[in-house]
Amino acid sequence: MCGIFGYFGPKKNATDMVVEGLKKLEYRGYDSWGIAYKTSNDIIIHKQVGKIGEAQITFGELEDAEEQIAIGHSRWATHGGVTQENAHPHFSEDKDVVLAHNGIFENYVELKEELLKKGHTFTSETDSEVLVHLIEDEMKTSNFLEATKKALSYVEGRYATLIICKSENMIIASRRGSPLIIGTTKDNKEFFIASDIPAFLKYTNQVNYLDDNELVAIDNTGARFINLISGEEIKKRNVEIQWVEESAEKGDFKYFMLKEIMEQKETLYRALNQEKDLIEKVADAIKNAFGTYIIGCGTAGKVCMAAEYMFSTIAKKHVNTAFGSEFPNYHHFLTDRSLVIAVSQSGETADTLEALEIAKSKGAKIISIVNVETSTMARMSDIVLPIKAGPEKAVASTKATTSQLAILMLLAYAVADKLADGKSLLIDATAQINDMINPRYEEHIRKIAEVIKDTESMYIIGRASNYPIALECAIKLQEVSYIHAEGFAGGELKHGPIALISKGTPCIALIANDDTKKSMLSNAKEVQARGGLIIGIAPERDPVFDYWIRVPDVGNASPIVNIIPVQILAYHLALLRSNNPDMPRNLAKSVTVK
Ligand code: M6R
Repeated sequence: MCGIFGYFGPKKNATDMVVEGLKKLEYRGYDSWGIAYKTSNDIIIHKQVGKIGEAQITFGELEDAEEQIAIGHSRWATHGGVTQENAHPHFSEDKDVVLAHNGIFENYVELKEELLKKGHTFTSETDSEVLVHLIEDEMKTSNFLEATKKALSYVEGRYATLIICKSENMIIASRRGSPLIIGTTKDNKEFFIASDIPAFLKYTNQVNYLDDNELVAIDNTGARFINLISGEEIKKRNVEIQWVEESAEKGDFKYFMLKEIMEQKETLYRALNQEKDLIEKVADAIKNAFGTYIIGCGTAGKVCMAAEYMFSTIAKKHVNTAFGSEFPNYHHFLTDRSLVIAVSQSGETADTLEALEIAKSKGAKIISIVNVETSTMARMSDIVLPIKAGPEKAVASTKATTSQLAILMLLAYAVADKLADGKSLLIDATAQINDMINPRYEEHIRKIAEVIKDTESMYIIGRASNYPIALECAIKLQEVSYIHAEGFAGGELKHGPIALISKGTPCIALIANDDTKKSMLSNAKEVQARGGLIIGIAPERDPVFDYWIRVPDVGNASPIVNIIPVQILAYHLALLRSNNPDMPRNLAKSVTVK
């Protein structure tokens, strides 16, 4: 979580560029923000509580020095409340060194105790502040770069840091576990350091990825990359990114969430457009593995659960699924013949990354299905299947979800040696989604949102592969509408949760035109008999539905079409309840802490 952005170069408006970059990273954390910039003999820090996107502040041009240096941070609080003191960047006690940090220093309590014993005083409750004090201590005997290297060797946990110092014209960036990318202009004179590429894509598409345990020191001689373990300088290859900047912008849409929901007409086609050889290679890996585990977190975790049903129905093959955070508990079963498939939009989710690290240490083969092809997850995988959804900015995942489902379904068909059948089913489903998502459809769903907008709780039920989709629908509704929403397997309701239904409680029934249909309709009737209001998402109308949202009849691809109306419903509930659907409270897009 948290977005960090730094600039080193000749532009006099470095501060405004950092503010602009932070606005593009705001989805990573938005409870407070701050910026630090160098003047000829000082460092100025400005920080405030609230979203940077709503801040009305310009810093103006910096001094007429050869290079300008500024760093900034948009925060998602982990250690310490949402206050101006806890906002980054943080000064050292002598005000010589300044730090912005994304991640968690897990041993900060011990480090802080030692520093307190030495007489240090702290101004924030954050874990981050310890590093800047450690650097200050080390600078009593070493220069800025050596002191930073030394101080970094004391901290445990995941981090991406940006550090500047009053006495040297240098930015030092370092990384272990949290993303950090360096953008460089072609003339090698300007550097942008950010948690994510779209933050600087306007200025350059030439990037270097900082890998774990690496540091880069940027000054007027250029960028020097150093391996923090061996201490040696390393050569990095520039990579050219193909994204166009506009794809990360809202265009005519008021919110990214709606833009991304609507984009599914195209993103699904892109997801399906995978190289046949690549899909078959992954299918072979699944066939030959001694145990396949499909893992992800949050929405991606629900996609993995849906995959378990797809593989069972389509390929008659059992695959194991687990949430990234729970996967380490299965490590006893892993061998060098195991296959672990990670599903992730960002490719940076700490829980999934940690699971992969454990799998790797056991010699398991790693495959990732990711949207950010240049992410840490992709780079640590033996094979990468790209989702190709383009940048997803809204915190609530939508287009990445359906693309992940489509790719996993293709894989299930490939394992069954029926790849062509799977592809034509999914192409047909996508064409029908294209017809389905239109303004009239959206308005129909918006009207249903008006009916249920004041409800305190709602439930979603589904069977087979639509059961994990019911769980995913609940996440969508919780995240942006803040309504208490829960998903259940249709058959489970009567074993307890049905006690929660009272007059008017909305219950969404996800229905596929398959052998689960009859039982699902019975479950809907059971809810209706207790006063529940039934919203049926189904290819055909049924008398039990108080409201019907039509979806195409697409056979096994039903989970892909069924989630889309709930994404639209969640979006409109958010608006009707005056919530910002792109930046829901307490959340961040990329969860890079454990
Ligand atoms: O980037 P990832 O797909 O690995 O992210 C995993 C979850 O954090 C993510 O799906 C989260 O649950 C979303 N906010 C859901 O909309």
